Amino acid sequence: GLKPIIAPSILSANFINLGSDVTLLFLNQCDWIHIDVMDGNFVPNISIGFPVLHQLRTLLVDKSKYFFDCHMMVANPEQWVATVAEYGGNQYTFHLESTKDPKNLVKLIHAHGMRAACALKPQTEIEQVLSFADQLDMVLVMTVEPGFGGQSFMPEMMSKVRKLRQLYPKLDIQVDGGLGPETVNVAAEAGANVIVAGTSVFKAKDQAKTIQTLRDAVVR
Ligand code: DX5
Ligand code: ZN
Repeated sequence: GLKPIIAPSILSANFINLGSDVTLLFLNQCDWIHIDVMDGNFVPNISIGFPVLHQLRTLLVDKSKYFFDCHMMVANPEQWVATVAEYGGNQYTFHLESTKDPKNLVKLIHAHGMRAACALKPQTEIEQVLSFADQLDMVLVMTVEPGFGGQSFMPEMMSKVRKLRQLYPKLDIQVDGGLGPETVNVAAEAGANVIVAGTSVFKAKDQAKTIQTLRDAVVR
């Protein structure tokens, strides 16, 4: 079957203690950390950028084994591929709405040694991704409007997940926005196997248990 991948979004971390927050996530058996990069242009918010990515990669204990899932909510995503690769990104997720030439961008990302993924905003249909989906390592179906953590999961996005899963039994399909123990089952049943969770993981009383709950939902 598909590998369940739990990717907490560090947008909900305590930035004053970011290093220890990230270390704890991996102690609690997360698979990836999801790093939300926003440029105040593609989305109406500015989050974290390359100095933070670079420091996470170079300053953390056990730094080399951590997988950095970079969700690039930026205009002109071609511009940052080399930088993210240099600073230790493992996967580069661009938004389909942000590029004129997604196929070439996928090639560029692969040429820089990263996994390539394509994200779809809630209003973007899957048809636009089908012509190059076989080149992708992952598709991200957004379950909120990108830009902010703490929003409500949009269950109507599950029809996109279901169609993609039918077409691509082995593709990693990620969902992002409003995921937690109450919503993960719906997403997993639709076929998502990569779960991003910000608020639910960082507000959890028992973070390890919450991560385990998310994983169990995908495995079943
Ligand atoms: C939203 C980001 C998400 C967000 C998820 O633009 O892409 O990754 O941080 O946060 P929650 O899980 O709180 O919805
Ligand atoms: Zn994200």
